[in-house]
Formats: sequence, structure tokens, C-alpha cells
Amino acid sequence: MLKIITFLFFLGLFKNPILAQVLDCNRLVGNFVGQKIAFSRPMEIGDVITWNGTVFSQPSTIGANLLTASEIPLHIKQIMPQQRTVFNNNGGVWGRELFGQPLWQLGQPYQISVKLDYSVFRISLNNVEVYQFPIRTANWNVITFWGMNNSFSQTNWLEMKCIRSPTTTRAPRTRRPGHGHGGGHGGGHGHGGGYGGGRFSSSSSSESCER
Ligand SMILES: *[C@@H]1O[C@H](CO)[C@@H](O)[C@H](O)[C@H]1NC(C)=O
Ligand SMILES: *[C@@H]1O[C@H](CO)[C@@H](O)[C@H](O)[C@H]1NC(C)=O
Repeated sequence: MLKIITFLFFLGLFKNPILAQVLDCNRLVGNFVGQKIAFSRPMEIGDVITWNGTVFSQPSTIGANLLTASEIPLHIKQIMPQQRTVFNNNGGVWGRELFGQPLWQLGQPYQISVKLDYSVFRISLNNVEVYQFPIRTANWNVITFWGMNNSFSQTNWLEMKCIRSPTTTRAPRTRRPGHGHGGGHGGGHGHGGGYGGGRFSSSSSSESCER
């Protein structure tokens, strides 16, 4: 009995610092660059994740990811001071790069939001929508991490605005963005399903140009 109580006590001790890092449809204040922050539940259609920070002044590559356990449905990258942003995804291998206007500037503060919508991620810069990246994975409904890889910027805070309170039970999801739209897309982009359980380990070589 004593053993069990001691065990539970230590479990509690070790759990708390980890729980403090979970984004639970709330705002976490701090610098999270270099960390992978878990969500208390997968992003749902309509949820918006926003973070606010500053880019350091030395030239560097700035990037941000929304991740599942094994994929990167959204990868954003800007090789500073190039004035364009690269958008891509990785479901085992990198997809085709798409390009948009710059999101970051050397030495400048910024605020970026990503809304998970039907068939696209809507990316906003300083509260203005500037880009839509197509959802290319069937696993859009298990996005559970946010991360920024490089160390040449810092965040002030990270926030998730959820369309549904985190305490209610999960609503049934019936629609799959990017799929089942019939003929409307003429030819499509050839990504789509196929990614399934693709493990991430194979990506280290091809990813060198992506970070
Ligand atoms: C970042 O957040 C702070 C605190 O909420 C705010 O004052 C500031 O204007 C934000 N920065 C940008 C670029 O929106
Ligand atoms: C950094 O990027 C790699 C893929 O390039 C990814 O596997 C890893 O989870 C990322 N880390 C963060 C903190 O985003």
C-alpha cells in the first residue's frame, strides 16, 4: 500500500512539469523555440493556433511546424533575409514546395496564426490572412504538436483558440478536407492519402534543405 502511494506521489511530481507544457485551448507564455509543444487534443476544423515573437537580427532560417505523431502536415520556412516563405508538408517524404510572401523580417516582431479549415490551412500575419496551404494529408485530424526548430528567434506566447471547449467530448468528424470532393479538382496535385503510417526516420537526408 505504501509503495503504491509513494508511486502515485512520484507520478504526480513528474507529471506536473510535463503537463505545464501542454497547450489546452489556452495561452502559454514564454519562449518555445526549439521545443515541441503538445496539444491536449488534436486540432479541429476551426481551431486557430497563434504565436507571437521576434526574429533575431542575424541571417538565419526561420521555420515552424504543425505535426502529428509521424507527419508534418504544415511546414513553414523562410531563409532570411529572402523575401519569400516556403510552405510544404512531410508525410514520410517532403511534398512539392509552394511559395508565399515573407512572414518574418530580421530583427522584427511578428504574430502568426494558422487556422485549420476545410481543405486548407489559413495563415495570417499580424491578423491579416496572407496564405492558404492545401491540406495534403488524410491525417489532418491528428495534429497534436506545434514546433519551431531554429534558435534565431523567440516567442512571447503560444495560444490555441478552440471552437469547442477542451472539456467537452470529441464531436464526430465526418468530413475530410482535401478528399471526396469529386471531380472538382481536375487532376489534383498527386499527394493525398498514401501517407498513412509513414515513419519519419527516412526524412533526415531529404530534409536538410527544408530546415
Ligand atoms: C505580441 O503580443 C503582445 C502582447 O499581447 C502585443 O502587445 C504585441 O503587439 C504582439 N505583437 C505583434 C507583432 O502583434
Ligand atoms: C524540427 O523539424 C523536424 C523535421 O524537419 C521535426 O521532425 C521536428 O519535430 C521539428 N522540431 C520542432 C521543435 O518543431
